[in-house]
Amino acid sequence: MIDIPPIKEILITEDQIKEKVKEIGRKISEDFKGDEVFLVSILRGGLIFLADLIREIDVPLQYDTIEISSYGDEKFSSGVVRLIKDLKSNIEGKNVIIVEDIVDTGRSLHYLINNFKIRNPKALKVCVLLDKVDARVIEVPIDYHGFKIPNRFVVGYGLDYKGYLRNLPFVGAMD
Ligand code: IMP
Ligand code: MG
Repeated sequence: MIDIPPIKEILITEDQIKEKVKEIGRKISEDFKGDEVFLVSILRGGLIFLADLIREIDVPLQYDTIEISSYGDEKFSSGVVRLIKDLKSNIEGKNVIIVEDIVDTGRSLHYLINNFKIRNPKALKVCVLLDKVDARVIEVPIDYHGFKIPNRFVVGYGLDYKGYLRNLPFVGAMD
């Protein structure tokens, strides 16, 4: 059995997340009224957020997933972003919204934004639930924003500790 350290503090409750996801879903629906959107979830952490978010959006939508890795099993970003699994779909001419659980150094999103730009989407937006503002190394434009959080190691709602704890319905700090 894996030894999982305890959660030190709950930073964002399940109810707060629900409210925020609704709010972001409403904004996306307003911004793309009369059009459609194509959401891209970044595996594996962004999946939980995507699953909840799409049910709060009422314009026609499709989604796909992409997997990148910058963390490995460590608590600190390695600085190297690798593409593990590409999209199945062609995003040319689409209103693409990247859906990510957390922005930390900004390296992952920076990599993905550049990678997507050359595929010629009609629009390219970025949606993140959690933002470690003080940890940024590379600036990234964020269009839909959830919560600003302190520079701590957090888990839950898709975010993991060694692959575990993604199923927690809240966001908690481990350090
Ligand atoms: P960035 O490239 O440094 O912005 O890191 C983004 C990725 O690192 C996120 O998609 C997460 O997968 C991971 N990450 C960053 N901070 C945390 C954390 O506090 N807990 C768990 N994963 C994190
Ligand atoms: Mg991630």
